[in-house]
Order: sequence, then structure tokens, then C-alpha cells
Amino acid sequence: MNILILGSGGREHSLAWAVNQNPKCDILYCAPGNAGMTKIAKCVEINIENSSEILTFCENHDIQFVIIGPEAPLAIGIADDLRAKNILTFGPSAAAAMLESSKAFTKGVCDSCHAPTAKYARFTELEPAIQYINKEGAPIVVKADGLAGGKGVIVAMTLEEAINGIKDIFSGIFGKAGTEVVIEEFMEGEEASFFILSDGKNILPIGTAQDHKRVYNGDKGPNTGGMGAYSPAPIMTKEVTSKAISKIIQPTIDEMSNRGMPYQGVLYAGFMIKDGEPRLVEYNVRFGDPECQVLMMRLGAQALDAMIACAKGELDKIQLNWANDHALTIVYAANGYPGKYKKGTKILDLDQISESTNVQIFHAGTKLEKNNIIASGGRVLNITARGASLKEAHKIAYETIEKINWEDGFYRTDIGWRAL
Ligand code: AMP
Ligand code: GLY
Repeated sequence: MNILILGSGGREHSLAWAVNQNPKCDILYCAPGNAGMTKIAKCVEINIENSSEILTFCENHDIQFVIIGPEAPLAIGIADDLRAKNILTFGPSAAAAMLESSKAFTKGVCDSCHAPTAKYARFTELEPAIQYINKEGAPIVVKADGLAGGKGVIVAMTLEEAINGIKDIFSGIFGKAGTEVVIEEFMEGEEASFFILSDGKNILPIGTAQDHKRVYNGDKGPNTGGMGAYSPAPIMTKEVTSKAISKIIQPTIDEMSNRGMPYQGVLYAGFMIKDGEPRLVEYNVRFGDPECQVLMMRLGAQALDAMIACAKGELDKIQLNWANDHALTIVYAANGYPGKYKKGTKILDLDQISESTNVQIFHAGTKLEKNNIIASGGRVLNITARGASLKEAHKIAYETIEKINWEDGFYRTDIGWRAL
């Protein structure tokens, strides 16, 4: 089949890498893609938030399967529009994507199905929100309801921080995403992510991961999209995983189906785990980035079979083969990220690295200019390795990143520290 992947990050490069290894894949297209993806796919300049452009492309290129990477096209209903034209699509409807695009919606779903999560209240006005914060005390967590590019959550250690945060949100810094606010109890514990495919009814767990959100070693500095990740997450033991499925994931999938908005695609659950009990922090309706890179490294070609079965409503027919392996990815970012950084700097010596099923350089923000690889984003490369242990994957990934010659980039040297 001809396949189209929407997106241009490291997540989509790793999806393309896995999909391309499967004999079911004939011609692979990525829109808009990046320099790394041009080696394995045809990259095409179409607007991934414009249904008619995507549909015309699918018709003209005989596309039989579309995989949607980022949340923005999902939230505006690109999956609905593709399915309406009978194109097999991996990704939830706009209604189901509210599990990411509205925190208040997700809290309501948790209430209905009794999924453990932080105690909360919703507000559309400043004064009652401030009163609530004063009553509950700090630490406390303030969240803009809608999609805010990962910046809409304030984990406030003091009342002052919480109140300033809520004032900022209501002053309109996130536009429509901030017309409603969710205020949550601060949960203590260790965080982990769990990835599950759902076809609306059946679920298929596809791995656990932990990422490093802060920019500097020791989990210090400002938040980023993620500076590295590894899979599996040791804290997600068999017992924790099975509680997560029976108390949170399956009830959510059933509740979505009862509400007439069956969830079809990958569900990315963020948990806070304390004393062996998982509680939901948030859902995302897409793969994590860079968590996807470590999952794809471990799943390889079978990821495509699972995604097709998911889109067809046949997940009950799929069984994954798991090796007893571990994967780790390091994000190579442009100096200055997540603040201001230079674009257009040259990355050298990438051709010195021999890639294999155990080492891959996934590109996240690169462009090809006159045969040179040029950095074109904040997070630029994801050096990803697989090994029989996390220690081995870690060693291979760091040995590999040291071979790359890029003066304008930096990376954390402690990815995986918690599990190592
Ligand atoms: P979110 O965008 O909801 O994932 O929030 C971003 C980060 O804020 C999470 O990964 C957590 O580290 C933290 N966070 C969110 N909600 C809570 C909570 N209720 N208690 C503690 N930390 C939280
Ligand atoms: N790495 C976090 C995310 O993709 O949301």
C-alpha cells in the first residue's frame, strides 16, 4: 500500500523508519517531512492542517493509509475528513481528540469512569479561581484548558505563582485555549508514560517510557518538549501496568465509546505513580516526541501491522513480538533552546555513522541545502539506540552522538539517570 505520514519531527521520522521496513509499504510519502526522511520517503510540501490539500494528494497518489503524527491536525478533524472519504486513517476524530485538546473534558471523562486522577475544579472567571487557590493552598497546579503548545501548565509551589499564572491565562496569553482554567491538586510521585493503541473497543499496549522534560542535566532548567527518553520505564512494573489498564485506560476507552466518540489511534497516558498506584496526569492523542523514537526502535516493522489493525478495528487480531530489549534516545538541540536559537547552522560528519536496527539518527528539525544537513529547529536530531540492557543502549547512543560534529548544538549527558 502507498502510505502518507503527516508531520516533520523526530516522531514522524521514527514512524517512517518503522513503516518503511514492512513489506506492506510500497511508496512512502511524508508531509512535509525533513532532511532525514528524504532518505526513506518522498517528502511533499502540503499543508497538513488543510483537508482539501491532503485529500487531493491522497487521490492523486493512490494513498491507502494515512498516519497522523501531531495533535494539531487531529484537533481540527483531519482524521474525520479522511475517513469520510473512506481513506484508512490512524488517528482519533476531533471529538475523541478532546482528550488532549480539553483538560476539562478529560477530567469529566475521569469522573464518569472513576479513573484515579488529581482532585480539581474548573473556572471561567478570575475571582472564584483565586478564592479556590487560597482555600486549597500551595503547591497547586494551574492549567489552561486548551492546547497551549505545552506551555499551559503551571506547577505552582507558592500561592503567588499560582495566582500570577491564573492571571496570565485569563489575560489571554493562550488565546481561546485559556478561556477556561482547570486547577488541580499537586500530585507527588514518579512520572511515566504509557502508550496504548485503541480501535474504539480493543486495546493493545505498545510500551512504556520516561522522558526528560527539563533542558539541563539533573532535570534542571526550563521545560522543553523533551530532551531524551528511554523505554521501558522500570517504574511501570507488571502490577502498575495492570492497574493502569483496569482502572484508567479501559474505563476511559469504554466511556468514550459510551459517549458516542470511540477512541481510535494511539493514546498516550501520563501517570504519576506513588506507592504502586498510578493516577492520571494527562492524556495526549498522539505519540510522544521523543518517546515515539524509542518505541519504534523496539517495535520495528510490526508497528505498521498494529497501526493498520487499529485503523481497521481489528486490534484483537494482533499480537506483538517483544524482544527483551531497551531503547534510549538523546535529543541534540540548537544552543539556546528552548529560548532563542540560531537556524541554518551546518551539521557535519553524520555520514560517518553507520546506522542499523540498533542505532538510528532520527531527524527532528533539519533541512537539506546543497547536500548539507542544516539545523532548522530547536530540537534537531534524536540519537537513538537499542540494546539488551538500558546500560548498553545508553552506551551506544552516547558513543554515537560524540561522532557528530555540530558546533551550534548541545545535549544532556545524563539521559536515563533515574533508571540507570
Ligand atoms: P501536562 O501538560 O498536563 O502533562 O503537564 C505538564 C507537566 O506538569 C506534567 O508532566 C507533570 O510533570 C506536571 N503536572 C501536571 N499536572 C500535575 C499535577 N496535578 N501534579 C503534579 N504535577 C503535575
Ligand atoms: N515528550 C512529551 C510530549 O511529546 O508531549
